[in-house]
Amino acid sequence: MRRRHRFKGALDGYFEQLKQTAGYQSRDLIVLHPEVPNLSTLLAKFDPCHYHTDPEVRYIIAGDGVFGFVRPDGTQVELTVQAEDYINIPANTEHWFYLTPSQRIKAVRYFTTTEGWVPEYTNTEKRFRQAAAV
Ligand SMILES: [Fe+2]
Repeated sequence: MRRRHRFKGALDGYFEQLKQTAGYQSRDLIVLHPEVPNLSTLLAKFDPCHYHTDPEVRYIIAGDGVFGFVRPDGTQVELTVQAEDYINIPANTEHWFYLTPSQRIKAVRYFTTTEGWVPEYTNTEKRFRQAAAV
């Protein structure tokens, strides 16, 4: 029960903060697991290096995943996100995403517009291992 209260408070708190400070309008829930139809097609959209003209904001509820980033100096780094992690990737930051071998993640996505956001692919070569085939 305590955890549920904290969890709901975090979800609503982040959303309120984003609405008030950055004009966010909507959020949704994304759930990925091996039984999701077209999982590999979905993951293929996130896997190549890309950026968005809007920030990419996520609160991880369960499962885990890996974000990779291209730093301004061209070096690259990866970050594993897990339950109760909150991540706000600034607009125009080159990044990628893939699932860990568990292939399970549940996350809230926050959007500045109701249309969501669109990946702009950069063709930058990742210097990390490729995501496991789905
Ligand atoms: Fe992205």
